Amino acid sequence: MAVGLSTRFLIALLSLVRAFGVWAAFYGCSDSFVGPQFLEGFTLEAIKDPTHGRVNYVDAATAQKLNLTYATEDRFIARADSTTVLDPDGLGRNSFRMQSKREYGNGVMVFNINHIPEGCGTWPAVWSYSEPWPTKGEIDVVEGVNNQPYSQGTLHTLPICNMTEKRWQKGSTINTNCDYSVNFNAGCGVAYSSRRSFGPGFNANGGGWYAVERTDEFIKIWFWDRDDVFVPPEVRFGADFIVTDFWGKPEAFFPNTMCDIEELFGDHNIIINLTFCGDWAGNAYLGSGCPVQLTNSTSIATCEDYVNNNPEAFENAYFDFSWVKVYA
Ligand SMILES: *[C@@H]1O[C@H](CO)[C@@H](O)[C@H](O)[C@H]1NC(C)=O
Ligand SMILES: *[C@@H]1O[C@H](CO)[C@@H](O)[C@H](O)[C@H]1NC(C)=O
Ligand SMILES: *[C@@H]1O[C@H](CO)[C@@H](O)[C@H](O)[C@H]1NC(C)=O
Ligand SMILES: *[C@@H]1O[C@H](CO)[C@@H](O)[C@H](O)[C@H]1NC(C)=O
Repeated sequence: MAVGLSTRFLIALLSLVRAFGVWAAFYGCSDSFVGPQFLEGFTLEAIKDPTHGRVNYVDAATAQKLNLTYATEDRFIARADSTTVLDPDGLGRNSFRMQSKREYGNGVMVFNINHIPEGCGTWPAVWSYSEPWPTKGEIDVVEGVNNQPYSQGTLHTLPICNMTEKRWQKGSTINTNCDYSVNFNAGCGVAYSSRRSFGPGFNANGGGWYAVERTDEFIKIWFWDRDDVFVPPEVRFGADFIVTDFWGKPEAFFPNTMCDIEELFGDHNIIINLTFCGDWAGNAYLGSGCPVQLTNSTSIATCEDYVNNNPEAFENAYFDFSWVKVYA
């Protein structure tokens, strides 16, 4: 009762505030996933990886049977197989691709993550898009390969969508053209400044919070690690209402100055997936500092060999979420 009343009061108050244009960026929570709600709100898609990963995405029943997905009241874990040596001619390593049942447009998503998959050959991602790709755009919020020390944020769109090199962001620009049809679909990526935003560095520090805000004018991505004293309290506590105006400089900032965001982005599903090798992790494997197994004096093992033969190397290839919240 008391909660309902104060919620209604807050909505009324904040609509008033919004009407007067005091805070442009006020949002209320429209969806929240905690513990078992991940299994209700997401589908596990047993499909082929279009980026050619050494992966076998399993369905929900298989994932539960193999304990690849696991929920407690306040935690949700999704992992890859870490016990099976693979037949090089058979299927890839069992893993997951979770897709939200609902689609979301403008608004904010906050991801409270305790652990991100790590290990050589891993390519985990938290991102959003919808079919048919790329007509409604793609926003990669968390992504990286082979234990690299920072995560990347990237847009992939139809032409024309360009970014300038220097923007109001903490991260550094990797590419400025978001058009999927150029640069082999590299997209317009930003490397986050925080060395705690991915892989072992993220995990050693207990993870943190990722947030993405999308409006017709811009897309912003923030990251705060677990010890960051500047994490906004409403992010830390997963509040019912948030005001992004005070969240400070984002890691990645994509304005609509040379990119019609309203036109190029549609409603999106949230995707959380973990693949191995493939177009990015596989090509970047040599030179990533990952083990190169000399099986004999003449042949150098590839990323695929490593993934096939070293199941125990994937014991830490798992996501552990406290929650995901969506605001509109
Ligand atoms: C899963 O993850 C990678 C990394 O983001 C992505 O490029 C790939 O297309 C994804 N695979 C599927 C089937 O979603
Ligand atoms: C399933 O996985 C969870 C978390 O990864 C673990 O705590 C639990 O003991 C596992 N259950 C079984 C039956 O192995
Ligand atoms: C913007 O993108 C288009 C299409 O991808 C490209 O042809 C053009 O050169 C880009 N313009 C600038 C200023 O980068
Ligand atoms: C080395 O390994 C490759 C691939 O595993 C194999 O084709 C080749 O015959 C091996 N060479 C020797 C000398 O054992």
